[in-house]
Amino acid sequence: MKVLVTGGCGYIGSHTCVELLNNDFEVVVLDNLSNSKITVLDKIKTITSKEVKFYEGDMIDSNILDRVFEENEIDAVIDFAAYKAVGESVQKPIEYYKNNVATVLELINAMKKHNCKKLVFSSSATVYGTPDVVPITEDSKIGGTTNPYGTSKLFVEQILNDLYKSDNEWDIAILRYFNPIGAHESGLIGEQPNGIPANLMPYVAKVASGELECLSVFGNDYPTEDGTGVRDYIHVVDLAIGHIKALEKLASEGRGLFIYNLGTGKGYSVLEIIDAFEKANGLKVNYKIVGRRAGDIAECYSDPTKAKEELGFVATKTLEDMCRDAWNFEKNFR
Ligand code: WQD
Repeated sequence: MKVLVTGGCGYIGSHTCVELLNNDFEVVVLDNLSNSKITVLDKIKTITSKEVKFYEGDMIDSNILDRVFEENEIDAVIDFAAYKAVGESVQKPIEYYKNNVATVLELINAMKKHNCKKLVFSSSATVYGTPDVVPITEDSKIGGTTNPYGTSKLFVEQILNDLYKSDNEWDIAILRYFNPIGAHESGLIGEQPNGIPANLMPYVAKVASGELECLSVFGNDYPTEDGTGVRDYIHVVDLAIGHIKALEKLASEGRGLFIYNLGTGKGYSVLEIIDAFEKANGLKVNYKIVGRRAGDIAECYSDPTKAKEELGFVATKTLEDMCRDAWNFEKNFR
């Protein structure tokens, strides 16, 4: 089976390419390298001893999409290509809607034109907005998103639902990620945010390495056990495996639009993450408590039952694995 992976040089995309190649899929990558590095392709080859076929370009360009589909018999697409910085999306909403929504319309048109109707879409737990109840199931209320990034994912989910209603020849899996962290055990690929990391784990790793001086813990007055924010952290390799499971479902059982949470079902607070990182790696992380970050919510963690029952997907890596692998990559990458 030949799979087009858009954004395949990125953090989650590259880990998914590794799992696809390890499972004998053929992989074609389209990436505009706006938030990733082409050197990742060499790392993927080192890990798997296999190569992907790479096209540099942007999904907004229908010509590059046509070329990819004309030159390759694509059986399915996994779409990762999107900007994903919550804070940045508040400052640059139009760039986010163009890059995260308009490009998907071009992709769908190209897929229809070339008769490829199997799509795995990278969505996010942010579509749930501020959850009324945790753990969150796929039937939980969506909407009330607190930033354009989350809203862009909500928009695309609506587009895909409308697409499926108009033509149920499509097979679509919408995967709502919780908080992906960690890195491949080789330390060759991992999270390489441009500039100062917005997310917790890459920031912790850079404080541990001394590149950054001190972690700011955004608030300890939330209604949680220790007052700091609670999230459902999932190892990026587990997340990648979840994509393989979703592809296998689309390839086997046919027709349908399916929505799955990809999480562990366990929430950890910021202070618990710091403690786990220190224990897993035998070091200290310098931090201070500051005010809350705008747009943050207190608690967000998944009920992963549906993915287990319908995909046979269960995240297996522990918080210690996530912390150890994140630090291993930081040491290698520096
Ligand atoms: C986690 C916790 C912060 C940084 C976002 C997106 C989500 C997904 C992951 C794409 C919160 C606290 C963080 C710091 C801190 N991205 N924190 N100091 O906001 O849960 O989710 O990234 O799919 O869609 O919404 O992740 O890592 O930014 O924050 O105290 O320097 O760590 O307050 O409680 P978040 P995060």
